[in-house]
Amino acid sequence: MNLSPSLMCADPGHFAEEIAFLEAAGADSFHIDIMDGEFVSNFALSWAEVAKFSTMTSLPLEAHLMVRNLSVHIGFAASSGVKLVYLHAEHPDVLRGLKRAHMLGLQAGLAVNPETDIDTLRPFVDMVDSILMMRVRPGFAGQSAVSDVDGRLPLLRSLFPNTPITVDGAVTPDTVASMNRMGASGFVLGTSALFGKGKSYREIFRDLRCLKNPINQKKLNACE
Ligand code: DX5
Ligand code: ZN
Repeated sequence: MNLSPSLMCADPGHFAEEIAFLEAAGADSFHIDIMDGEFVSNFALSWAEVAKFSTMTSLPLEAHLMVRNLSVHIGFAASSGVKLVYLHAEHPDVLRGLKRAHMLGLQAGLAVNPETDIDTLRPFVDMVDSILMMRVRPGFAGQSAVSDVDGRLPLLRSLFPNTPITVDGAVTPDTVASMNRMGASGFVLGTSALFGKGKSYREIFRDLRCLKNPINQKKLNACE
């Protein structure tokens, strides 16, 4: 199971400490939201910040590109220490973007919005390294999941039987437990599971990994 804190939800005044604590607590990678105010009506993290993150951790950085100009942002990702970029299936230039990402040595993933017809993803089956299944409309942290969105996972799993599926948006401990059983292997952790919870990151990660195995819920010590 890959647990990936969403750094747009971390304390922006203390990124170095946040990254060190999250890594020590058991994060597997870091999720970085890049927005341009056009593809989605918000801004999140900058490439200058991402370049600094890459000096603060050896864990993989994954950039979720919610931008119009894919080409320029994929170039920044490649020069900022990012390992994997997620491009939106809804973007008109996604095919060219996936090819450009691979050409620059990046892993290329496909982000899929809650309302996107899964059948339209068929052309990408053999060319993506990872799927990012959105449970919310992208652009903002702290939203509720779109209703019935989790029912899309079996369909995605059958179209992409060998591709890791990560879930993004409103991921709670219950989401991790149930969607892991349904075949998702990665989870983006934001305000719903990790940040501002009044619990230590270490405790939260330990509990999330325990939830994977319901038997362990009653004896948390067995999960450490
Ligand atoms: C959007 C972001 C958000 C967020 C996840 O792409 O990835 O989904 O950071 O955190 P919450 O739990 O606030 O939805
Ligand atoms: Zn994201």
